[in-house]
Formats: sequence, structure tokens, C-alpha cells
Amino acid sequence: MLVDTFNRPVKDLRISVTDRCNFRCTYCMPFDEYTWINKKEILSFEEIARLAKFFVQLGVDKIRLTGGEPLVRQDLDKLIDKLSSLSGLNDLSLTTNGSLLADKAPALKAAGLKRINVSIDTLNPEKFKRMTKRGDLSKVLDGIFAAKSNGLHPIKINAVIERDVNDDDIIELVEFSRENGFAIRFIEYMDVGNSNSWTSQKMVSKKEILETINGRFPLTEVGRNGGTAPSVDYQFTDGRGDIGVIASVTEPFCSSCTRARLTADGRLVTCLFSQTGHDLKSLLRDGSTDEDILEVIASAWRKRRDRYSDERLEALLSSNGYDPRQHGKIEMITLGG
Ligand code: GTP
Ligand code: 5AD
Ligand code: SF4
Ligand code: SF4
Repeated sequence: MLVDTFNRPVKDLRISVTDRCNFRCTYCMPFDEYTWINKKEILSFEEIARLAKFFVQLGVDKIRLTGGEPLVRQDLDKLIDKLSSLSGLNDLSLTTNGSLLADKAPALKAAGLKRINVSIDTLNPEKFKRMTKRGDLSKVLDGIFAAKSNGLHPIKINAVIERDVNDDDIIELVEFSRENGFAIRFIEYMDVGNSNSWTSQKMVSKKEILETINGRFPLTEVGRNGGTAPSVDYQFTDGRGDIGVIASVTEPFCSSCTRARLTADGRLVTCLFSQTGHDLKSLLRDGSTDEDILEVIASAWRKRRDRYSDERLEALLSSNGYDPRQHGKIEMITLGG
């Protein structure tokens, strides 16, 4: 079995299908202008499907499509159709901001998509606009209900919690999710990319998030799905649904990280906080054989030593502290989270 230097297999592939996004979330990509990847550098669906097959051969059984915003890529259902027939794949999902979902949910479902994760950080329309800099909450809500009525299941809501911005929205988000049968995950604000001016004070910890929810809706810990997922899950003791918390700052999960990332321009990136990737697009386009490409991917994974969130916590707890600006990173909008 293919494993990295810490004995971690490659099990999940997160494929960014575009770096473009119609939102500018302040915690991800607050700048209006950005140097987007040139169209001709973007992998075609055939190229993505060819690479996906290699990853599955090496052990991947879960694929997630991301962006930017994946639904701004035209005909995404055609890619889903190609990937859903890959034998060996157990899970095909999508992370979206939901703004284009209302129109696209039927085609996504018909193409073989099973489930989706949608970002909603607040149910206050004005605050939603402020946090996303251009998002329309009503469109996102139409999208998530269209996904539900088209049978996508489960539907998970992702809420990044930022101190003094939306920490007062936690209970309302929990109530909304419980009432409508959505699973909600609260995410500790992370220092992704180089543009979001993260400080540890702005991060609301898992402990604080759980205290807030427990005070109103008592919870019982279920644990990490499969023992290794980023989210620690909790059930409401009244049996009406569950929540999760993704605590990559205060309780990092690098030791069980089995995730590889593919950028829209075909770079293999082995950590959300990586500075560079391994160029696979050139191999796809220079006539390299399947065996050549498979070996480049396997060799990159064998050498992998990433444990950025573990290192961040060590630094945060040390006397020197942690300065996110010391380490340049690929932007989250290019990596899709
Ligand atoms: P499920 O399979 O539905 O549990 O998906 P997921 O939680 O892996 O995916 P999603 O795209 O919904 O991501 C939720 C949050 O977890 C985002 O903020 C991601 O950036 C974060 N996340 C996912 N994988 C990793 C990881 O490997 N490292 C870190 N630090 N964060 C991650
Ligand atoms: N910290 C934590 N999560 C983030 N996301 C985007 N930026 C950040 C950040 N700085 C989340 C989005 C989306 C997921 C893919 O990543 O909310 O749901
Ligand atoms: Fe927001 Fe996602 Fe777009 Fe980043 S990629 S700006 S998190 S919608
Ligand atoms: Fe994996 Fe890097 Fe996230 Fe750690 S910080 S869990 S190594 S992606």
C-alpha cells in the first residue's frame, strides 16, 4: 500500500475544477482582483478523469469537487458523470457556496452526485453580504432547498466562525439545521492563504463553540467518522440531528490526514497549507504514459511530510508564538479547502 513518511495512505482526493468564484468571503479571498489561472492552463474534464483514475489506483476511494466555486465551471455534471463511473470510488461529493445550486441541483443529481456541503456562515442577509462581499443569502437558501428536494443527501452546512463577526449566529444556525434536516459543521477560522489577516484572537475555538451550543441543545460526542475525518461529530441528546466541529487550529488532525488536492491547473498539492505543488498537467500534455504519471504521483506521496496544523499548534503554544505571515501559502481559492 502507498503511504507517506508518516505512514498515511492516500484516501481522499479534493479536485478544484476552477479557481474562480462569484463570492469574496473575507476569511478566504477578500480581494476584488486576483490573478486567475489562464483558461488554457485549466484541465479539461478528460484530463481530470484521467488523473482521478490514477489516484483511485493508488488508494483513493473518496473524491470531492471544489473550487473556487465549482458550479461556475460550465457543464460540471458532465465531469460528475465521468467520475461516478470510476470503479473503486465509494464517495463523490461537492463543496459549494450554493449560489448557483437552485438551477443546477437536478442535473447534478442525475449525473450521479450523492451529497453536497454548502457554506452558510449566517442567516442574516446583510451580514451574509458583508461576509461574502457579494453573496445573496436568498439564492443560497433556494439552492440548498432545491438540493434537498432533488434528493441530495446528506446536505451539510459549513459555517466558519469568526469572533465578533458571526459567533452570535451559532444558535440560529443550529436551529435552522435541526428544523430542516441539514447537518451543520462549525469550522475554526484558519490562516489559509495569505490574504485573510488571520489572528488567533479572531478564531473561536471548538471548546467555545461547543459551550455555546451545549447551553441550549445538550450534545453527546460521537467522534470522527471512520476515526479520521476532520470533523468531530456530536448528536443532540434529544435525537433530533447532529452537528460537527472542525477544529484544525486547536485540535489538529494531521496524523490521520489522507487528503490529496489537485488544483484546476493540474498541480498535486499534499497539504492545505503547502507553498507549492507538483506539476501533473505538463505530463498529461507531453505524452507521458499512464505508468510515468502514476509513478510521479506515488513518488510525491511517498515523500510527503506535511503536518502544518500540528506545527501551528506547537508554535502557538511555544514562547515564540506563531506568525502566519512567515509562511507563504497557495491561496485557498485555488485549493478549494
Ligand atoms: P466530509 O467528507 O463531508 O466530512 O467533508 P470535508 O469536511 O472533508 O469537506 P469540506 O469541503 O466541507 O471542508 C470543511 C472544512 O474542513 C473546510 O474549512 C476545509 O478547509 C476543512 N478541511 C478539510 N480537509 C482538511 C484538511 O486536510 N486540513 C485542514 N486543515 N482542514 C481541512
Ligand atoms: N478558515 C476555515 N474554513 C475556511 N473556508 C474558507 N476559508 C476558510 C478559513 N479561513 C471554508 C469554507 C468552505 C470550505 C471549503 O472551506 O467555508 O465551506
Ligand atoms: Fe468564499 Fe468559497 Fe469563494 Fe472562498 S471559494 S471566496 S470560501 S465561496
Ligand atoms: Fe492534512 Fe495539512 Fe490539513 Fe494537516 S494541515 S490535516 S497535513 S492538509
